[in-house]
This record gives sequence, structure tokens and C-alpha cells, in this order.
Amino acid sequence: MARGNVRRGAAIFQTVCVVCHGFDGREINFKDPPKAEYVGAVCKKNPWEGLHKIRFGQPGVGMAALTALGIDTAVDILSYCQTLPVE
Ligand code: HEC
Repeated sequence: MARGNVRRGAAIFQTVCVVCHGFDGREINFKDPPKAEYVGAVCKKNPWEGLHKIRFGQPGVGMAALTALGIDTAVDILSYCQTLPVE
């Protein structure tokens, strides 16, 4: 588990990421139903991928890269994402 500041990460997730991913990260399903994979699952199972997405965004979609905010902030967001529901 990442050891960032969960409360800080939550504040950013709930203002930036929430727009697309929803308040609990379940608005976008990365898999085809009936399978389900949400932000919470990616960040828990594959933190390096989660961190990479947070820092560099998702190519081809509107997900912005947050490199400008620095690695500490990205780790805070990752830490919060690891608390989100996986299913
Ligand atoms: C403008 C909409 C938008 C915003 C804002 C956004 N995302 Fe995303 N995100 C997406 C889309 C669309 C995908 C790709 C979905 C897919 O591949 O099916 C994605 C993918 C991801 C993935 C990777 C899933 C994978 O399979 O690798 C993670 C993790 C993620 N987002 C986390 C975040 C976090 C954390 C934030 C806030 C810092 C954020 N996103 C902000 C739209 C957004």
C-alpha cells in the first residue's frame, strides 16, 4: 500500500477525478460487463500502473496528466485510490 497522505489525496480525487470516475471510483468500468474493474482495484492490485496513470494520464481520453503537481501529490492520490471499492 502506498503511504501518502490519504486525506490530501481524497481532496484532490473528490474535485478532479470525481468528474469522470465518480465519488467512489465506480463510474467508469475498465472491463466489459459482467466483469468489473474500477480505479480502486487498479490502484490496489497494480499500484505502479495506478501511479503512472495519475502522473501521465490515459492516452486518447480526456484524462489529464497531473505531472505538474509533483510526485508527492500523485502518491497522495494513489493512497486514497487504494481505499476505494474494488467491486
Ligand atoms: C476527463 C475524465 C477523467 C478524469 C478527470 C480522470 N480520469 Fe482516469 N480515466 C478516464 C478514462 C476515460 C480512463 C480509461 C478507461 C478505459 O480504459 O476503459 C481512465 C483511466 C484511469 C485509470 C487506469 C485504468 C487502467 O486500466 O489502467 C486510473 C488508475 C485512473 N483513470 C485514475 C484517475 C485518477 C486518480 C484521476 C484523478 C487524478 C483520474 N483518473 C481523472 C477518465 C478520466
